[in-house]
Amino acid sequence: MQKLEQIYEGKAKKVFRTDEPSLFIVDYKDDATAFNGLKKGTIVGKGVINNQMTNYFMGLMEKAGIPTHFVQELSERETLVKKVSIVPLEVIIRNISAGSFAKHYGVEEGIVFDSPTIEFSYKNDDLGDPLLNEYHALALKLATQEEIDTIKKYAFAVNDVLKSFWKECGVTLVDFKLEFGKIEDGTIVLADEISPDTCRLWDSKTGEKLDKDRFRRDLGGVEDAYAEVMKRMRAHNGK
Ligand code: TMP
Repeated sequence: MQKLEQIYEGKAKKVFRTDEPSLFIVDYKDDATAFNGLKKGTIVGKGVINNQMTNYFMGLMEKAGIPTHFVQELSERETLVKKVSIVPLEVIIRNISAGSFAKHYGVEEGIVFDSPTIEFSYKNDDLGDPLLNEYHALALKLATQEEIDTIKKYAFAVNDVLKSFWKECGVTLVDFKLEFGKIEDGTIVLADEISPDTCRLWDSKTGEKLDKDRFRRDLGGVEDAYAEVMKRMRAHNGK
């Protein structure tokens, strides 16, 4: 497999074409941004952790019957993935109140919900990823009803897998963001990443934040938090 020219550079990853038209290479960076790119920084070693963690989770999801874009890990930072057209919806699942949920609804962080919530935002940096509901997504033709139904089913299934995995590592899964894509035949697959950039992870005993909120909120110990969750994942998997 030959890595050809870069076709896209996002905030945390670069995407390259390959000599196989249906496959791309994703290259994870250490760059970190928050607040739609207003805050910028570097989290040393993040690219390696996010690549390896994402790939492990993509494997778990495949086993649970959730199709993904994952093909093969190529190096510490590089992974071969299926070419997808990204459905322009950010899909957020919450188990516990935090972040924008706590802010929007005027509640404290840490309220455990009886059942998880799902919300969508329109993936559009120029508009600041505004929240929308299914009817808005249909009106804007971002996805069909059938695609939205599939995405919802997969997103809750991802939550079940992630929640129980992290529980076994002594980590509480608070919330996370997923993105889905469509492969050539129209099949919906889980894409993008599952990492401390895109999940809120709290130590189950102490409540300590072990995710990108340490960067967003200037809490310090950012690299250590990423290393800690990776260490727990490795220990869980006997590595
Ligand atoms: P929020 O509480 O700020 O809406 O974030 C919900 C979850 O989504 C949290 O786990 C962090 C993740 N997230 C992203 O992955 N990308 C983003 O751009 C934002 C705003 C949140």
